[in-house]
Amino acid sequence: MFEYTAPKNLLEDKTILITGASDGIGKVCACTFADHGARLILLGRNQEKLEAVYDQIEAVNPGKTVIHPLDFISATAADYQTLAQSLTEQFECLDGLIHNAALLGAMNPIEFYPERDWSELMQVNINAAFFLTKALLPSLSRSADARLLFTASSVGRIGRAYWGAYAVSKFAVEGLMQTLADELANTSSIRVNSLNPGGTRTNMRRAAYPAENPESQPTAESLMPVYLYLMSPQSKSIHGQTLDARSFDPNS
Ligand SMILES: NC(=O)c1ccc[n+]([C@@H]2O[C@H](COP(=O)([O-])OP(=O)(O)OC[C@H]3O[C@@H](n4cnc5c(N)ncnc54)[C@H](OP(=O)(O)O)[C@@H]3O)[C@@H](O)[C@H]2O)c1
Repeated sequence: MFEYTAPKNLLEDKTILITGASDGIGKVCACTFADHGARLILLGRNQEKLEAVYDQIEAVNPGKTVIHPLDFISATAADYQTLAQSLTEQFECLDGLIHNAALLGAMNPIEFYPERDWSELMQVNINAAFFLTKALLPSLSRSADARLLFTASSVGRIGRAYWGAYAVSKFAVEGLMQTLADELANTSSIRVNSLNPGGTRTNMRRAAYPAENPESQPTAESLMPVYLYLMSPQSKSIHGQTLDARSFDPNS
């Protein structure tokens, strides 16, 4: 596992938006980034859960976090524009955007895959990433050194039976990342990558592998050196890459 001890002030003066910040990897990212000085915008669908994360952060690092409840299933382009407008009014720029929220959906053969699960999952896992990226690119462009990180999965790199819309949506995430990274390579300082966290002890993992002992999976906390490094100035040369947290090596 990649080792990196980030300075306590690594993200001082950085403003970072995390989707799916109410639980799992997104929640741990939020608390970790706050501990390293970041101003945060926490997005999620459940106001109560977001408030609990907000309270946890405020108790240690007060006055730097805002929450923005938004359900990606029902959100429209107008909702994303409203969010972008509100961020423009509150912050000079956006230095980081972590596309982390996702649904697992049904685990069925394609022949029996429920249409409704398919549509809702695509809305959350890929369409929201497009709408949000589109709305927030102007804010990211105002940063001198912004990072845009998509969250990948191994089943979005090689297809796997019964992973249905989840796998297909994660292939699309890689496509969006690569297309955007190519567009921005020579025209912008925004660095764009995708990161596969690998099996991690969260609700999603438990739903995907109900027979597995949850303790056998690494914690979200163990991923944080990679997330912090990818937000750091040292990662400036990493762009357009499909990364894996478990084998991450910035020099390869
Ligand atoms: N855990 C793993 O083993 C693993 C492996 C590979 C990739 N990943 C990826 O890592 C990322 C985080 O996964 P995780 O394991 O931390 O999952 P998780 O614990 O299930 O958390 C998912 C987050 O997404 C939010 N979310 C779900 N539907 C939403 C919607 N309609 N609108 C807004 N937010 C919504 C959830 O909100 P609620 O709190 O309201 O549910 C939660 O905050 C995902 O992109 C996942 O695909 C995870």
